[in-house]
Formats: sequence, C-alpha cells, structure tokens
Amino acid sequence: MVHLEAGKRDQRMILEKNNYGIVSVILVLLCACSVISCGNQDRKKAAVPAPQEDLILGFSQIGAESAWRMCNTRSVQEAAAGSGIQLLFANAEQKQENQIKAIRSFIAYQVDVIAFVPIVADGWDNVLLEAKEAGIPVLVTDRKITTADESLFAGFIGTDSIQEGREAGLFLLEKFRTRLAAGGTAPITVVELSGTEGSSAALGRAKGFREVIDAHPAFRIVESISGDFLRSKGYEIMQGILSKNRNIDVVFSHNDGMTLGILDAMQEKGIKPGKDIVIVTIDAEQAALDALRAGKVNCVIECNPKTGPAIMDLAKRLAAGEAIPRLLHVEESVFTEGDDLSAVGPRGY
Ligand code: AHR
Repeated sequence: MVHLEAGKRDQRMILEKNNYGIVSVILVLLCACSVISCGNQDRKKAAVPAPQEDLILGFSQIGAESAWRMCNTRSVQEAAAGSGIQLLFANAEQKQENQIKAIRSFIAYQVDVIAFVPIVADGWDNVLLEAKEAGIPVLVTDRKITTADESLFAGFIGTDSIQEGREAGLFLLEKFRTRLAAGGTAPITVVELSGTEGSSAALGRAKGFREVIDAHPAFRIVESISGDFLRSKGYEIMQGILSKNRNIDVVFSHNDGMTLGILDAMQEKGIKPGKDIVIVTIDAEQAALDALRAGKVNCVIECNPKTGPAIMDLAKRLAAGEAIPRLLHVEESVFTEGDDLSAVGPRGY
C-alpha cells in the first residue's frame, strides 16, 4: 500500500495492492471542492514543466487476463520504481467504465502525466478532452484508440498488431506452399480465435491476417469467434467447435492464453495440435515457446510486453513539456517450428 505524503497535493490517494499484484485505486478526497478547484487553476499553468523528482504518473491498466498482461504490469511498476516516478496504478478489471473513472481520478488528483491501455479502441474522446482541458498529457500504450481528434493524446507506444496478423498469414503461406502451388480445390480451413471485441489488438491482428491470406482463395476462415484473450474461453470455444467440426487445418489464435486452452481441448479429444492441426499464436509467453519446442505449436509471433522503461522515459519527456513521437512500435520477433531456438532465453512471462 502506498500513501502519498500529505502536502504533496491537495488530495491524498491511497493505493491498495492485493496478494496477486492486482492493484486498485481508491481516491480519497481530503479537501473541499473549492480547494480542488484552486489546485486545478494552479495546475492549469501546464506550460510550467513538473520537476522531475516529483513526477506522478497515473496508469490505467485493463486487468490481469493473461501472463502477457501481468508481465506488462510488472514492467511498468518496476520501471516506475527504478526511475523514481510515483506511479498511481489502477486495474480496470476489464471494464472501460472503470478506466474512464480511473482517468477522471487522475485528473482530479492532478497527476503530471496519464498513461493508459485502452481496452477497446472507441469511446475515449470525452475523458481525454477533460485531461486536455486540465493540461495533463496522455500517453496511449499497448492498444490503440480511434478518435477524430488526434490532439487528445500525446503519442502511442506499443505493439504493431496489424503486423502481428500479417506475420501469422505469412507463416501459413510458407507452411502450405506446396499445397497452394498444387492449386487443388480442397480449401485450407482456418479457425480464428480473436481477442477482446473492439480492441485494437483483435482488430489489427484480424486485419493483418486477412491482408495476407485473402490474396489466396484456398484459405477459408470457417469460424471466427472472440475468446476475449482468456485461456478458459479458448478451451470452451475449441471444445464446442471440435464437437461439430473436425475438418480444421489451421487455428489462428490471437493470444497464447487462449492457445493453451485450445491445446487442452484438442488433446482431450485425441487431436495432436501442431501435427493434425497447424497452430499459430501471438504473444510468445514461455508456455507457448515450450509448446513450440514440443511440436504442439507451429508458429509463435512475439508481442512485446516489456514497455515499462520506454513509458517512463516518455512520461519524463512529457512532464518536461517536450513533444514525443506520435507512434512508437516496439521490436518483436517471430519464432517458427523450423527455427533453432537454443539461443532463446527464458521469456519472463
Ligand atoms: O493487447 C495485447 C494483448 O492483450 C495480448 O496479446 C494479450 O495476451 C493481452 O491480454
């Protein structure tokens, strides 16, 4: 639990952390509204950069739905601690409304910078306008937003989900090269388990994938269902699909969490993933690389969660009144069944 010192701000925020590292924010307003509005007027002099040692970053995370997400949270928390930034961390538990509330709390608290992972792409304009009017720069991270007014946020840092989808398609072109070249009439049937509906991660991965495979009519997406990035849903959905259709050549899963559930469902039915059905997955968690090594997965596309240090660097620059790049994509790799993986170290997630 972290208490900010009295006197640092007109209000006091208490952060509580549960045993699983899931942190929730409880904002306690200690002062009357009149005091808050005085504080706001002071802070509206946003042109005056915040002193670096006093930098307060409000961070709204979407939840803890996957090992990837938990690593992303650790990366942010460790990087903040390592760079002397006060982190106000809020876990939205997969609800956009909780994220909007958290961002409003950060505005009321007059943090120096706000960063957030938008659970879905749409619906942020009003709260971001409030942040802009309060003079607080906003950094969007991991997932993107759609907005008609790009001035509502300072920049984005995170993964390139369209490219991740393209990589999945490119792997399949190579995997089915002979069959495609033979030009037979039998379709290559694909089941897609997508991520959270309306999230840029799911939209981008679906888009990039189709960009590549749509040029080859042999590929046929026979099912595309959202598993919400959850292992439990990956399992349930694949159980349901396998009970009515065994004629599947490929499963493209938008994240490793769902993939692990998919593998369980297949193995329960005596299907050998990676051999009977080609499996392509995104994230590159340790468990997925282990499955790749064991021949149960054919291609793993990395989605890099370790953005904490870059976020802290950008937060410092924003607090100092500097401009930051509009778009920063992090470096990512692709691991396939043909690769020598001996040099790939522990993933850390
Ligand atoms: O936004 C990134 C996605 O969200 C990751 O692929 C997934 O595992 C996570 O929960």
